[in-house]
Amino acid sequence: MTDQTSTLTADGTAPSPESDPQWWRQAAVYQIYPRSFADSDGNTIGDLRGITERVPYLSALGIDAVWLSPFYPSALADGGYDVDDYRDVDPKIGTLSDFDEMISALHAAGIRLIADIVPNHTSDRHEWFRAAVEAGPGSPERARFIFRDGLGSAGELPPADWTSIFGGPAWTQVPDGQWYLHTFAKEQPDLNWENPEVREDFKETIRFWSERGVDGFRIDVAHGLAKRLPEQLPSQAELDRLPWDGSHPTWDRDEVHEIYAEWREVFDEFDPPRSAVAEAWVGADRRPLYASEKGLGQAFNFDLLEAHFDADQFRDVVTFNLELAERAGSSSTWVLSNHDVVRHATRYGLPPKAAHEEKAGTDWLLSGGVEPRLDAEGGLRRARAASLFELALPGSAYIYQGEELGLHEVADIPDEARQDPTFFRNTGVEIGRDGCRVPLPWSSEGASFGFGPARPHLPQPSWFARCAVQVQDGDPESTLNLYRRALSLRSRLRTDEELEWLHTDDAQVLGFVRPNGWACVTNFGTAPVTLPEGEVLLSSSPLDDGRLPGEATAWLQT
Ligand code: GLC
Repeated sequence: MTDQTSTLTADGTAPSPESDPQWWRQAAVYQIYPRSFADSDGNTIGDLRGITERVPYLSALGIDAVWLSPFYPSALADGGYDVDDYRDVDPKIGTLSDFDEMISALHAAGIRLIADIVPNHTSDRHEWFRAAVEAGPGSPERARFIFRDGLGSAGELPPADWTSIFGGPAWTQVPDGQWYLHTFAKEQPDLNWENPEVREDFKETIRFWSERGVDGFRIDVAHGLAKRLPEQLPSQAELDRLPWDGSHPTWDRDEVHEIYAEWREVFDEFDPPRSAVAEAWVGADRRPLYASEKGLGQAFNFDLLEAHFDADQFRDVVTFNLELAERAGSSSTWVLSNHDVVRHATRYGLPPKAAHEEKAGTDWLLSGGVEPRLDAEGGLRRARAASLFELALPGSAYIYQGEELGLHEVADIPDEARQDPTFFRNTGVEIGRDGCRVPLPWSSEGASFGFGPARPHLPQPSWFARCAVQVQDGDPESTLNLYRRALSLRSRLRTDEELEWLHTDDAQVLGFVRPNGWACVTNFGTAPVTLPEGEVLLSSSPLDDGRLPGEATAWLQT
């Protein structure tokens, strides 16, 4: 494992946040999905002032940085990942000056800000796309996107039978008859990254937010930008058979790294250099390319999120990803939940998927939990254990808003209240991602459980009352207080990016120790086990006569 001492000064203390260019390597990053965090003005959706007002909450939680999901002007066809203007704030959630106030308040509390940028596609309301539709075939305006003539005698058929990630066709026709490519919803036209104007414009966007104090960027669909479509388009079935080895027409092409090398130069124009993390759902062996220091510097690793609550799987994922990160000269990232997947308390409370479902792909990531089958208590117990396991690992940990409250997925949102395009484009197949995006409960009463003065944009279930921040605040055993204690210990104990596995006689028990003696032991089984020698600092469930109960994690100083 790498001996990464750069996160510590010579006397072993953490450097001041301003002076550490590598602050991101082992940061605890809290993801805010702004429209569901806190609504200060009562327009039913969360806003930037709502975040500013809750900086004391974030500070008490003990995080190092906030990753802010898109906050740009948007019709919300895909929750803000359909961007109308990359250099402004959605008037529904604030103004640029609200943004400045928010970032100042975060910085004053020692919290950095990572902005989400969405370079694969704009929205269909972006001025470039409107101009492209106006200007007609063959125009320079159209060359910023991916337009093609249709098939059939009058071009009435799409150029290919491709399906979008959210279901339904990936090509949509404009009034003059041409078709444009959209990998996601039809409101999200794909940009043409072979166009130098597109490249230059994004560099301006990076500079714009960096100058406003943004410390880092999360790159949406980082593996999708570079595309090379042959004259004769393959069918979807042919496309699916092509390997993702750097030469696939639409995914994970080698040239994408030329774009990120140019961005790295822009990131390095700032002091400290801006950080970046790639959202790249690629084969593990290709991940180091995104995490290279000549490129984005870090890449999400979703392996833990995709694993079952299982000792062997967790151990393999950790060993493998620490090696991968080292190969890239980066640190690993760890994720258990985010705005695209079923919350981990719910995943761990549902019966494991059957092997045949497993093979069908990652569909389960996008479908809601089925409440009648949910073991809510067991799911939360396992989630708390997994979270403590994650937070003790070397690398950075990404925490999704609400997981610190132990929230479950909301499975029973009525169809008419749903917003996710996955739901609309896959009627009856996928219920979509709204269940993890329901506005947070801050208090146990009121029309929105303290989210804001009005009813929230997605309905909250009555059980949110029990999970509210206000309720958990005063309960020493609450999940919120577990996260607070864990994050506070983590920032004190954070040490070199190494771990050594502890020998255990029980295959259901996984233990590791960090170079300063900070040990983490997880019991994936159900019977209590004896802990190694040491002072117990924290545990996800109360100890049973000094032993670690089933489905629990303890931290020790050994
Ligand atoms: C990413 C985002 C997801 C979004 C998609 C299209 O996967 O995380 O929420 O729908 O990109 O932008």
